[in-house]
Amino acid sequence: MISIKSSREIELMRKTCELAKSTLEYIESYIKPGVSTEELNQLCHEYIIKHDAYPSPLNYHGFPKSVCTSLNEVICHGIPNNKDILKDGDILNIDVTTYLNKFHGDTNKTFFVGEVDPEIKKLVDVTYDCMRAGINTVRPGSHIGDIGAIIQEIAHGHGYSVVEEYCGHGIGREFHEEPQVVHVGKKGTGVEVKKGMTFTIEPMINLGSRHCKLLKDNWTVITKDKKPSAQFEHTILVTDEGHEILTLRKEESKEWKLS
Ligand code: MF3
Ligand code: CO
Ligand code: CO
Repeated sequence: MISIKSSREIELMRKTCELAKSTLEYIESYIKPGVSTEELNQLCHEYIIKHDAYPSPLNYHGFPKSVCTSLNEVICHGIPNNKDILKDGDILNIDVTTYLNKFHGDTNKTFFVGEVDPEIKKLVDVTYDCMRAGINTVRPGSHIGDIGAIIQEIAHGHGYSVVEEYCGHGIGREFHEEPQVVHVGKKGTGVEVKKGMTFTIEPMINLGSRHCKLLKDNWTVITKDKKPSAQFEHTILVTDEGHEILTLRKEESKEWKLS
């Protein structure tokens, strides 16, 4: 069942999503060579708790930390730890999910650490474009398949691949709700988008092949070929006019255009 949020629920979604967004903004200045992913986890944890919320990943199906930190070839669900020390040229995704007033808000961003190789920089920039282009399809009457179709078209156009095993998802009172938002697909297929739905779009785009490997910790997903992978994520609300990006400032919500 896909839940349609009432106006009261939408206001609560706005609040939790604003906190998830501001956590990502807060952590940005700490991302530099020499810092460990565990230190970043601690800072995010304290920030979220200080704002009367709970970090949704912590203890979620046994996940041991408060955010996911996915470095270079890690596709998603990287576990923060003291051994992963950031170094110049790394790319690091931090995935923040907050639980505030009984609602979840979910967003992630791939950050550059120092000076990043132009080829990898481009992967990250195109991944951002994939997410924004996917978001731009969303309006009442569109289809979930439209999102994957445009993401796939852009990624493949640059010779990149799209991860298929992990997807976007409905979100609200539950961390992961229906529908599944697959990042590949065909225009006009899948669930019809309706006003009041809230879901994430979070494409994972690989420089090499799309294939993944799950590490023995049962969480960390890496690329099989060990080439880098990038990801961005926003939580979206479907409105009469189209959509609103709940994990972004309203002004920035309209600014993007495919370059
Ligand atoms: N935040 C991730 C998502 O975008 C899910 C992380 S689940 C965890 O759906 F357990 F690894 F935290
Ligand atoms: Co998500
Ligand atoms: Co997330």
